[in-house]
Order: sequence, then structure tokens, then C-alpha cells
Amino acid sequence: MSAALLEVRDLALAYGDVQVLFGVSLRVDEGEIVTLLGSNGAGKTTTLRAISGLRLPRGGEIRFRGESLLSAPASKRAAMGIALVPEGRELWPQLTVRENLELGAYTRSARARARRNLERVFSLFPRLRERHAQFAGSLSGGEQQMCAIGRALMIEPKLLMLDEPSLGLAPILVDQTFQIVRTLHEQGLTVLLVEQNLQKALEVAKRGYVIETGTVKLSGSSPDLLADPAIRSAYLGL
Ligand SMILES: Nc1ncnc2c1ncn2[C@@H]1O[C@H](COP(=O)(O)OP(=O)(O)OP(=O)(O)O)[C@@H](O)[C@H]1O
Ligand SMILES: [Mg+2]
Repeated sequence: MSAALLEVRDLALAYGDVQVLFGVSLRVDEGEIVTLLGSNGAGKTTTLRAISGLRLPRGGEIRFRGESLLSAPASKRAAMGIALVPEGRELWPQLTVRENLELGAYTRSARARARRNLERVFSLFPRLRERHAQFAGSLSGGEQQMCAIGRALMIEPKLLMLDEPSLGLAPILVDQTFQIVRTLHEQGLTVLLVEQNLQKALEVAKRGYVIETGTVKLSGSSPDLLADPAIRSAYLGL
């Protein structure tokens, strides 16, 4: 059995008085692609925010390589190797592609290696190299997604968390995005993938968790989840 890279246990989180996570537990082992599935408002983004340190949980534990993250600010978690590609990309539209990527390298060690990593991102996404001087806001949806992923790669993450990377993309770009996830995984990255595109997500991931109203309702291997009657009727309309 491989070592847990990320372990989330009994995570509880509220926005003000409104509790939205009620004991989320999941684990991602080194070298895996794991998917976190669920419908709108289930708490997927909130879970990723808690892991990256953008929101403080009110209970539970988050461990990365066995070490508790709860007292570490977001910047420290980034330096430890946790990167988030946020829902909706959140690029700086008025900055160029290159500037967006360079700003991704905001930890000290990433800054020192920014040139090399920029080169890696450009060789992974030749389209971004071509468009490096263009404002990010004027990129196509697919190019923006590449830029958002590239920006996350600038900290040389061990764990890449992607929040609905396929959202709003045309089918061919959806396939391209999942292909990118596969390539990054082959290059050694561990991936936690949040998706509403259950079918595609379970094709690329080894295992998955299904979250509903702030708790994990189901988990299992991708083939098992795809065969589950409850999932087939609730999420695949079958
Ligand atoms: N900043 C916030 N302030 C208050 N409530 C919030 C905030 N962000 C999210 N919520 C609420 O928390 C719940 C979980 O939201 P979250 O964004 O985590 O869901 P999600 O699973 O990512 O959904 P989606 O698939 O639509 O992105 C929702 O009820 C949402 O309205
Ligand atoms: Mg979300």
C-alpha cells in the first residue's frame, strides 16, 4: 500500500453561521488521480479551499505527508507543494499570459526557479508560449484553462488540485483538458480532481468520492462508482 500524500479527516467548515461541510474525509495517495464528485453546492470547492488554506475549518484534520496543515497559512502550504487551479480559472485578465505565469511562482523556492519552470510550462503548452504577450482576459476558454494550470505548475507542486477544469469548455477542449491531467500525472504529479463531469472524471481517475450536502456519501474505485445504480441514476441520467 502506498503512502498517503493527503489525508482529510472529519472536516467541518462554516461560512459565518452556515455550516456547509459536515465531516468530509478523504485520502489521496502518492501518485494517484482521485476525483471528488458531487452536484452544485455539495461542498467540493469549499473542501479544496480548506485544503489549500483559503478557509479555516471549524473541525477535523488535514494532513499532508503526515504533517498537520491546520496551522500553516496558504503560502506555506503552497511551498510544501499544494497547488490549486481554482474554479473559473481566476486569472488576472489585464495581465499578460507570461505575467500570470510569473505571478504563480510566488513562493521563495519557486521564484528562484521561475525561469526554468516557465520554460517547462511553455513546452507543455506551446500555445501559451505563442501567446505569452497577450492579455489573459483575451484568451479563449481553453487557453485560459491552460494558463490557470500553468500558473499552478509554477510552484512545482506535488499535489495538483483542479476545480472543475472542464467547466464551460467545448467537448473537444474537455477531452484536451483531461489529456493534460493524464500527462501531468504521467510526469509524476498526484492529482485531486473536482468535477461535475462524472463520466470523464471516472475515466481518468483511479478512485473517487461522491460528496452530497457536505458529507461523503459514497467512495470507491472508478469502475465500481460507474457501475453503481444510485450514481447512474442521480448523475448520469441512466
Ligand atoms: N463565500 C461563501 N459564503 C457563503 N456561503 C458560501 C460561500 N462559498 C460557498 N458557499 C456555500 O457553501 C455551499 C458549498 O459550496 P461550494 O462552492 O463548496 O460547492 P461546490 O460543490 O463547489 O458547488 P459547484 O459545483 O456549484 O461549484 C453552498 O451552499 C454555497 O452556497
Ligand atoms: Mg465548486
